[in-house]
Amino acid sequence: MKNFQLIYWSQPFGYNLEILSSILTTSRVNNKKRNITGALICREDIFLQLLEGPKTDIEETYGSIKRDDRHLNVQQLVDRNIDERLFPAWAMKDDPVKTWMWSKEEVAKGIVGELPQDEIVKVFEKLSKESSIFKF
Ligand SMILES: Cc1cc2nc3c(=O)[nH]c(=O)nc-3n(C[C@H](O)[C@H](O)[C@H](O)COP(=O)(O)O)c2cc1C
Repeated sequence: MKNFQLIYWSQPFGYNLEILSSILTTSRVNNKKRNITGALICREDIFLQLLEGPKTDIEETYGSIKRDDRHLNVQQLVDRNIDERLFPAWAMKDDPVKTWMWSKEEVAKGIVGELPQDEIVKVFEKLSKESSIFKF
């Protein structure tokens, strides 16, 4: 069966390491149960998350995420069927800062919402190719 891919962005509310760690811990436990994988790019001014897996599970998880008060203005950027996952080994990879290509000023002006879908997907394709030692 084909997998589904969903990407959204949002504005963190009360961002700190403790909150981030709690989000990632819950995500990894829940996502493993639902066969969801993906990545969460995070910086104090933006969350950008890719979720991939069975469509119904993604929709359910995204429903919970949208109701979460640890972020605001959740906006969907991409939703499509995919043949292959980008992060098959990751219940939720986290990427704090290092792949960032947009300045805080650009993000504040809403650049992410204006980019074509393939530019957004490219950010995650690049991230998926970076090798990592730690897998969760
Ligand atoms: C930026 C962000 C990303 C999140 N990503 C996930 C995720 O990938 N999977 C998940 O189950 N919950 C994720 N959550 C947490 C959900 O919003 C919600 O708290 C959680 O699914 C509730 O789980 P529970 O019903 O087991 O308490 C995320 C929350 C935020 C703020």
